[in-house]
Parts: sequence; structure tokens; C-alpha cells
Amino acid sequence: MEKNKLYQSFEHVFGYKADSIFFSPGRINLIGEHTDYNGGRVFPCAITMGTYGVVKKRADKVVKAYSGNFPDLGTLTFSLDDLTFKKEDNWTNYLKGMIKYINESEGGIDHGFDLYVYGTIPNGSSLSSSASLELLIGVIVKALFDLRIDRLDLVKLGMRTENEFMGLNSGILDQFAIGMAEKGHAMLLDTTTLEYEQIPVDLPDHKIVIMNSMTRRELVDSEYNTRRKQCEAALSDLQKVVNVSSLGELTEEQFDAHQQVISDEVNRKRARHAVYESARTLRATEALKAGDLNAFGQYMNASHLSLHEDYEVTVKETDLLVRLAWEQAGTVGARMTGGGFGGCCIAIVEKDQVEAFIEQVGTDFEQAIGHPAEFYIAETENGTKEWV
Ligand code: GLA
Repeated sequence: MEKNKLYQSFEHVFGYKADSIFFSPGRINLIGEHTDYNGGRVFPCAITMGTYGVVKKRADKVVKAYSGNFPDLGTLTFSLDDLTFKKEDNWTNYLKGMIKYINESEGGIDHGFDLYVYGTIPNGSSLSSSASLELLIGVIVKALFDLRIDRLDLVKLGMRTENEFMGLNSGILDQFAIGMAEKGHAMLLDTTTLEYEQIPVDLPDHKIVIMNSMTRRELVDSEYNTRRKQCEAALSDLQKVVNVSSLGELTEEQFDAHQQVISDEVNRKRARHAVYESARTLRATEALKAGDLNAFGQYMNASHLSLHEDYEVTVKETDLLVRLAWEQAGTVGARMTGGGFGGCCIAIVEKDQVEAFIEQVGTDFEQAIGHPAEFYIAETENGTKEWV
């Protein structure tokens, strides 16, 4: 992305020059899926696909925002005096949520701004375009209004925007990954304590290939919220016999010993995934630290199977991409990434095999599904920052 082009786009829309540009990455989760709202472990990294924001402060209390991705929407406008969710405000509801919660907790956003946004994360691809935007806004207003709020609070308010403003009861995975990332690393995060460790993911002989199924099932948000409720119901059954405050605190042995107390069979499967996936995430990162990439790949594969069988958040398109990836020479491991119900999968592939991998998986996928998949090579990135 060229800085000048972004500045020019701002000037074209608003008719004067902007002051600064910010960049907020997207994320992939290497392993640890649907564990974050269960107090379990996740292992994401930020990627170079993300969201750019070109901005200048205004003298009044109006925010004007234009997205280069949605030119048909034109410039959307709202006032700081009315930060309520409105459907017609479309993607700028994320801005309203962030501003509202930052002002409630910290104060200090006393003027509006003009903002040109351009994102390179395909929408609905499960690479977290929404958390990318939330953190972008948080970091922009912190800089514009010289706020003292720290990064972790911005991360938490990003999640709050998602939960309370947008109505998706997600965990903290996406905002944490995007806010706290270090290039060249993935984070092993314990979502109960928020303790985390940056682990190098330099893979000299391999690439992480992102495979976009270009599919997103309807009602994703309600399915997601249902999964969360099912886990909560399972936890409350388990709490009759074990003293834990989240599924993430259970070992696999404890779960196996007590699982019969979960009255609903579906809820039992959901909880088993959450418990096993969190344990698997820890083991996978230990393997990676010990230099055993093959073992890491095996854990990725097991994660996908568990998301397919127990958590039921895969769809035929993502199952096919992963199965095709497993069949290719040079694949170390593959799985869906993010919330599921379509979106993207990831595969770790030997460098020399990447071209053939994309060619073969792409051809077979299109033949079976009827539309092409997209492929990107993941490069790790730092967390949200001003582009100086
Ligand atoms: C979405 C949510 C995250 C997390 C993942 C699944 O990306 O936003 O909080 O739950 O799904 O791991």
C-alpha cells in the first residue's frame, strides 16, 4: 500500500490534506479456536493484511468517515452527541462504539474527525476485519486527543464494542492479537489471566498459506452466540461436581471423569472441544518452541477435526480446503481459522511446494465447489500503530 495514494484518497474525499496515517493488522489464529470465551488458550499472530486509516481532527463534534471499500455508501456522518447504534450507519457503528466506551471510561474525545479508511482484509473472511477497525479507531483517537488510556484497555474496549454495541458475544482473541502483536511472533494467551508469551514463528523453510473459501454462512453471529451458551450450560452442569470458573481450567482427565454430569449431549461435545483444544494449544506451542514443526502440524489437524466433529463450526467448503491441503506434498498441517461457518483456513507448507500447493488445491476446490478460493501468504505484523 502506498502512503501517497492513501493521502490523495483522503484529499479527494474531504477536499483538504490529512495529518496522519495509521495501520491496524488482521489476524490469523494458528491454534486455540473457540477457547477464548471459555477461559482457554489461544495462539494468534497479526498479519500484514489489515486496515489503513487516514485522519484529521475537526473543530466541531462531527465524525465523517469514508471507506474506500464501500464507495457506494459515500461519506457517513455522525455526531459525538449521539453515539447510539443505528443500522444505517453501517460500518461506522464500530467507530461509535469505540468512541462511546473510551469516553465513558477515560473521557477526552471532545472533537470529531474526518477519516478515510481502506482495508485489505476481505470482509467475512474470518481474518478479523472488525477487530482491526476497532483497534484502528482506538489508536487513532488516543493519538489525536492525547489520551492516557493504555493498550490493554483499548483491547478490552474493542471487545466491549463487539459484545455490547454490535451484539456478538466474542472473546478477546481478535482484539488482543491485533492490539498486542509483535512481528515475527505469535502469542500464547491465557484468556483467563490475560498472561501471554510472544513465541517466535520464524519458519525459514515454510510459509503459512491462507486459503479463503469465499463462503460465509448466514446467521453466523447467532450460531456463534449459541455455541457460547452451550458451553456456559455445560460449565454450569460441571460446576455441580468440580470447583472451576471456566472450562479452560479443566484438564482433559477431569473433563473425562466428570463429563457425564453434562446432561445435554450436544453441550457435552461443545465442552469437550473447548477443554481439549485449550490443552492442545499448550502442547502445540511447546512443540513449536522445541523446534518440532511436524508435531505442531499434527495438533493443527486435530484441532480442525475437533472443530468439525465436536464444535460443528466447519462447513463443506472449509472441510474441503483442509482435506485438500492435507493431501498435498509439503503440508505440515492445516485447519480452519477464526470463528468458522466459512471464511479462511490456514496451512503450513514447505516453501518449495507452495506454488504447486496453491495450484492444486485451487483447481480441485473450484471443480468441487463451483467458485474459486483465494490464497494469500501470511506475513506476521506488529500491532496497530501510526504509520510514520
Ligand atoms: C471469532 C471471535 C473470537 C474467537 C474466534 C474463535 O473470531 O471474534 O473471539 O472466539 O471466533 O476462536
